[in-house]
Amino acid sequence: EDAIRINPSILAADFVNMQAELARIAGADFVHVDVMDNHFVPNLTFGTQMVGRIQATSPVPLDVHLMITNPDRWAPGYAELGAASVTFHLEAATEPVALARRLRAIGARAGVAVKPATPVEGLFDLLDDFDQILVMTVEPGFGGQSFMPETMPKLRRLADEAKRRGSSVWLQVDGGIGESTIAQAAEAGADTFVAGSAVFGAGDPDAAIRGLRDIVRA
Ligand code: DX5
Ligand code: ZN
Repeated sequence: EDAIRINPSILAADFVNMQAELARIAGADFVHVDVMDNHFVPNLTFGTQMVGRIQATSPVPLDVHLMITNPDRWAPGYAELGAASVTFHLEAATEPVALARRLRAIGARAGVAVKPATPVEGLFDLLDDFDQILVMTVEPGFGGQSFMPETMPKLRRLADEAKRRGSSVWLQVDGGIGESTIAQAAEAGADTFVAGSAVFGAGDPDAAIRGLRDIVRA
């Protein structure tokens, strides 16, 4: 498919004005929600109580990115509260395929994420088990970091393999995505783009979303 998606990350939003922040990105495809547990990554955000309120408030569907230990235990709860997609880290999961099946059974899109140093070849036989794969383009944990171009060959290998197998899996990038980096990620095969500071750091977030979309479509 030719569709692309821009998913602003609310990690870069003002957490105590979340309702107003969500209203500023009504033109997004999904809102990217970064859940961090101070264990899988050295940063802490929020859990199911807050994400449930975001779900109830957001004008666009939720794309939940779990940067947590033991997703086998916690990920289904995010699907149950109504998130459109739930992505957990391959490095953290005990039984990734079984967990993906549970997420789908609840009604969410199942996603798996890999850190910059994690190879993608292990995912080649799992493409049918997931609806989206997230290739991290920074070390997970913080917004505002610089895009790592060395992750692009791996994204390209994944995209080539998905095409070869006729897979419809979405390929997502997250970290340092903005006007100067989005084109190379798109060229390497990404179709879904997470952007935190590039969207919420702009005076008009919805205009920033349109700007990113236009670069990919050009
Ligand atoms: C980082 C998070 C990202 C983060 C991206 O661990 O997964 O979603 O919000 O922020 P930017 O776009 O500022 O790099
Ligand atoms: Zn993220």
